[in-house]
Amino acid sequence: GVSVTTLLKDTGLVTVDPGFMNTAACESSITYIDGDAGILRYRGYPIEQLAEKSTFLEVAYLLIHGELPSDELLNALNNRVARHMHVHEGIKSFLEAFPRDAHPMAVLAGATSALSTFYPESVGRDEPEIELATVQLLAKTATVIAYLQRRVTGGELIEPRKGGAYVDEFMRIGFSGADGELDIDPTIRRALDLLLILHADHEQNCSTSTVRIVGSSQANIYAAVSAGIGALSGPLHGGANEAALSMFDKIKADGDTVEQFVAKVKDKAEGARLMGFGHRVYKSYDPRGAVVKNVANSVLSELGGNDETFQMAQELEEIALSDEYFIERKLYPNVDFYTGLLYSAMGFPRQMFTPLFALGRMPGWIAHYREMMDDPRTKIGRPRQIYTGEVERDYVAIDQR
Ligand code: ACO
Repeated sequence: GVSVTTLLKDTGLVTVDPGFMNTAACESSITYIDGDAGILRYRGYPIEQLAEKSTFLEVAYLLIHGELPSDELLNALNNRVARHMHVHEGIKSFLEAFPRDAHPMAVLAGATSALSTFYPESVGRDEPEIELATVQLLAKTATVIAYLQRRVTGGELIEPRKGGAYVDEFMRIGFSGADGELDIDPTIRRALDLLLILHADHEQNCSTSTVRIVGSSQANIYAAVSAGIGALSGPLHGGANEAALSMFDKIKADGDTVEQFVAKVKDKAEGARLMGFGHRVYKSYDPRGAVVKNVANSVLSELGGNDETFQMAQELEEIALSDEYFIERKLYPNVDFYTGLLYSAMGFPRQMFTPLFALGRMPGWIAHYREMMDDPRTKIGRPRQIYTGEVERDYVAIDQR
């Protein structure tokens, strides 16, 4: 209930709030979360309805512009994005310059930042520039991520075609053989579109807050999104999808039962966390996690593979949800608990899981950057601190220390 305008005034009072547990940094009309009730809505539309009925680019339009697009507007966005999917030869050389086994998130952050140097005409905050940057980011980061996938699997980079649908073209650039053709399994196409929708925004999460704080210095949107990609890469945030699958493998490799692993987590001695569990805002089942689990169930039975791991994940979930440690702390599966399993069944290598999260989150980052830039009350993000160091002392010459 307290208005931001009141909070913006410098009262001389400084509060310490590590991790910003209780601090709202802005007002926003993009995404609503009720963490206790497990509710997530984009611009007022329940995530479950969007997941069932919408497509990723439609959701991107909704998040960025505030309303669902007409057929004509959606077609225009589809066409514009399709026309911009090619990347400059310099970006391709940039991608090739890194070691083959470099983590794609690191390369993606660099490439996104570098985009502003290759497409300087789309750097700016006025309407045509920010519209162009929006399209460039949606289009070119998709191509870059598909190229990173090819690098992980050892393929040559192929040219985007100008007329393809977004998810189809992303899959084709990432997975086709040298002839550039790919028959996309409709189950995989739908699952990917749906996963991108589920990841598209999540209000002031770590990466989005990073995008906002970088943008608040009036840095260009590529710089802000690149910083967001860095924030997303951590295992406590977007990196959790990769970390969860590695955790399942480690349990198997160590020969632990799920009960033994849960006991280790509760013991905290080995520092292990149940990756894909817990959330700063959700104190009940993450509604995205619920959708992913259902989809994982049907996709895995259709495509086959990973059954044993899926079984283990479900057992882990069941044990954790009935354990006092997890109940007390309100720890439930988040979106990342089952996504790794799903991506893996769809044929994505493990290092690509978090870049796929970045692809999905792109519209959210763009929407928040633009909302912040359009808000005349935006001030540079600059937290305060409580100084705890030495009060004052005199310099001591090096030979007297
Ligand atoms: N496994 C075991 N214990 C946990 C877990 C977990 N996954 N998450 C939190 N806890 C415990 C903490 O040890 C702490 O216990 P304590 O009270 O005894 O000290 C308590 O629950 C509260 O945890 P915090 O770390 O204070 O909660 P916070 O809100 O700061 O962290 C976070 C949220 C980072 C998501 C945390 O739950 C976590 O590390 N989860 C695992 C990583 C993960 O899945 N991240 C993805 C998040 S969703 C996303 O980014 C898309």
